[in-house]
Amino acid sequence: MEKMVIRGGRRLKGEVLISGAKNAVLPLMASSILTRGWNIFRGVPQLGDIATMKLLLGHLGLEIEGSEDLRIRADNLTCSEAPYKLVKTMRASVLVLGPLLAKLGRAKVSLPGGCAIGARPIDLHLRGLEALGAKINLNHGYIEAEARKLRGSKIYFDTATVTGTENVLMAACLAKGTTILENAACEPEVVELAGVLNKMGARIEGAGTDIITVEGVDGLEGVEHRIMPDRIETGTFMIAAAITGGEIKINNCRVDHLDDLLSKLTEAGVAIVPEDKGIRVTAGDRLRSVDIKTLPYPGFPTDMQAQIMALMCLAEGRSVITETVFENRFIHVSELKRMGADIQIQGNSAIVRGERKLSGAPVMATDLRASASLILAGLAAEGVTEISRIYHLNRGYERIEEKLSRLGADIRRVKG
Ligand code: EPZ
Repeated sequence: MEKMVIRGGRRLKGEVLISGAKNAVLPLMASSILTRGWNIFRGVPQLGDIATMKLLLGHLGLEIEGSEDLRIRADNLTCSEAPYKLVKTMRASVLVLGPLLAKLGRAKVSLPGGCAIGARPIDLHLRGLEALGAKINLNHGYIEAEARKLRGSKIYFDTATVTGTENVLMAACLAKGTTILENAACEPEVVELAGVLNKMGARIEGAGTDIITVEGVDGLEGVEHRIMPDRIETGTFMIAAAITGGEIKINNCRVDHLDDLLSKLTEAGVAIVPEDKGIRVTAGDRLRSVDIKTLPYPGFPTDMQAQIMALMCLAEGRSVITETVFENRFIHVSELKRMGADIQIQGNSAIVRGERKLSGAPVMATDLRASASLILAGLAAEGVTEISRIYHLNRGYERIEEKLSRLGADIRRVKG
């Protein structure tokens, strides 16, 4: 099993280029099912989850070529089944459900299980598709769905769900008539998907707000599109600069996607200055504690909660970090405490009392963003941190040790 070994205490300095957004690419790859002709997605990151989605689309009969410039065509779509062995490794596989229903009128998709951070049900996906006229049964761990022709409808999401919005949005594009999604997710990845679907010929209005309207069309055509930069990778490197007392110029990033994080880091004493299509992030002398509450976009992103917790472990004062999106997203707390952090969990809040230092230790990654949190803590800690189970990391960060090494970090991936 691979480990990441970090010798902390180095101030990171230099420039980093942000990769394409994992959570934008995955729904876009699924949307190819809806189209005729080639889609070309440029700037696709080489990540575990992308490889899994390629395997799944290939299994369905789509033609897939290339890597960073990814070409996908669904003209030979033959299969409508997403098997358990693929879905269990990546929950976002459920994103093929809506497109398969809309294109083929049927789909059989393994129910994604829970995951470390929560039960993560997909009831809202299914309810939305049923509102469009799909008949859905659950048999032996599979969702079996069929619909002769989806029909437009008004759908209210009890909870703002990112992939739920994306799944139903994609299905609605080929439904007959008008669909209105209320309490839709507003994440930038949803806006990116809607923009590309419109380039494909869909008629979507309101993406980025909580009410999205879709006029169904007969068919969609393949397009060419460059993937937007990953806002969570951007935020992770911003914190890498802050936690090591360094200065990093972050290129190819969309600061307008990170308003709440920027305001919190500024409040904590981090200097963030826009600079020729990027930002320059410079650590302050002493970090100040700030309170965080994760919320659906445009609130503070839950995918940045573990990372900013690592930063708050070294800030002056007390920080209250409240996780409102997932029910079990504090697994990294016990690992940070092994490094000397002072954190007490009270319900869905973590009370973090900043320390002067953290000390390197052997720790274990438990999910994608927890892995990033432990790397950040290791970069700042005194001594050596060894992070096991870093396969979680491979899912969402492209060549992270290479990017960090270029910034001066003493970090290496070792086998064994
Ligand atoms: C997306 O997951 C992201 N994944 C997650 O990123 C991200 O943490 C999450 O949105 C929240 O921003 C992708 O886009 C591939 P949700 P998703 O449906 O869509 C509840 C990462 O690290 N819910 O918005 O699965 C759910 O339990 C990953 O890159 C239902 O109750 O999240 C949660 O409490 C982790 N029923 C809340 O909604 C449903 O049918 C938000 O979940 C669907 C969701």
